Amino acid sequence: MTSTTDLGQSWDPNTLQSRYDEVRAYTETLAAPLSPEDQTVQSMPDVSPTKWHRAHVTWFFETFVLADNEPAFTPFQDKYWFLFNSYYEGIGPRYSRPDRGLISRPGAHDVGVYRSNVDDRMRDLLAILDEGTLSKLASTIELGFHHEQQHQELLLMDIKHVLSRNPLQPAYAGSPTETAQSDALGWVEVDGGLVEVGHEGDGFCFDNELPRHEQWLRPFRIADRLVTNGEWLEFMADGGYRRHEFWLSDGWARIQAEGWQAPFYWTEIDGVWFEHTLHGTWPVNPGVPVSHVSFYEAEAYASWAGKRLPSEAEWEHAARVSTGSTTEKVSGNLANTTSWHPEPAVPATGGLRQMFGDCWEWTSSAYHPYPGFRPPAGAIGEYNGKFMSNQMVLRGGCALTPAGHARATYRNFFPHASRWALSGVRLADDGAAA
Ligand SMILES: [Fe+2]
Repeated sequence: MTSTTDLGQSWDPNTLQSRYDEVRAYTETLAAPLSPEDQTVQSMPDVSPTKWHRAHVTWFFETFVLADNEPAFTPFQDKYWFLFNSYYEGIGPRYSRPDRGLISRPGAHDVGVYRSNVDDRMRDLLAILDEGTLSKLASTIELGFHHEQQHQELLLMDIKHVLSRNPLQPAYAGSPTETAQSDALGWVEVDGGLVEVGHEGDGFCFDNELPRHEQWLRPFRIADRLVTNGEWLEFMADGGYRRHEFWLSDGWARIQAEGWQAPFYWTEIDGVWFEHTLHGTWPVNPGVPVSHVSFYEAEAYASWAGKRLPSEAEWEHAARVSTGSTTEKVSGNLANTTSWHPEPAVPATGGLRQMFGDCWEWTSSAYHPYPGFRPPAGAIGEYNGKFMSNQMVLRGGCALTPAGHARATYRNFFPHASRWALSGVRLADDGAAA
């Protein structure tokens, strides 16, 4: 028995079950180094406690798969529907996001019990689904896999902030990469013309990657690697955070109001810059990509450098030209490397480096619907569409993105001033013929 989702991916119950087990187990692997106390802290409104992530992704399967399909469905706990609903108005009331750190109960162990319960019920459901129901449900279950992967990345970004606020500056894991330099930044020329962007093919994508459509691009150049910490230090030394001429008005107001003088996790101690990482706090490594900078900072850096940020269509087209492929099979410094941090660029080969993994890359594009975009009906339609306002698109994935969760058409998005996400900078420039 096989099923085809709306996007053409074929699933059979055994494959679906093994994929479910794999995705669910990885969340627990990522949470394993964290104590129940670590998993409870919410260090700022944008950050969610680890155990909340573990419960919320479970709630997603219970709400969108089990509720309408499990025989004699009963919620594991009525109150969990309120506690672990993130933003789905169509599902009902929800607990205040900035107060998630106050949810001392259920504890981390009890969240594990909730996860096991839903896992058992999902297993039972998959075992009895007829082909028609499986065909209807497979795309939602697959969305649940990718949703959980998004939260795996968020879990790591969030715990990084939580641990950064602990005066002991504890590490999530291991030691950082030894100091290494990236070689000189090069440029890749890309022809313009009428190009297609957006997802195509049988693999999974989120609704915001559709419809595939045409865009007209002028010839452009795109940097062959990310901007490094060393280059960012030059920007800072040249008054980058003190000279208004590089900044958008909103960005300049923000750095005045919040006193920004360096990337988010940098601290100056006796004239030396240190950076908090998932490996603890270490001297800034000039050879690795700068990370945890906002759109405003990325844009200001590009202005200082006499360049600009790529548009999301330029980025996607360049990624496809560079890889020579429209497939989703991409590689890079993603979470499976367990580096947990951007790495120096590999030696130049004439093509684009660091396009996938390392840092999410700010683009100059506002997060808007593609022409013809229609969110799905029902509460699941709230997944992406309602956030298409006041945010910028980032591309490429980062060192905390699960393997298999990055692709050329993936549209991430954050507000202009966000800095806790693992975001970096790739420069672009107008082409010679432009
Ligand atoms: Fe979510």
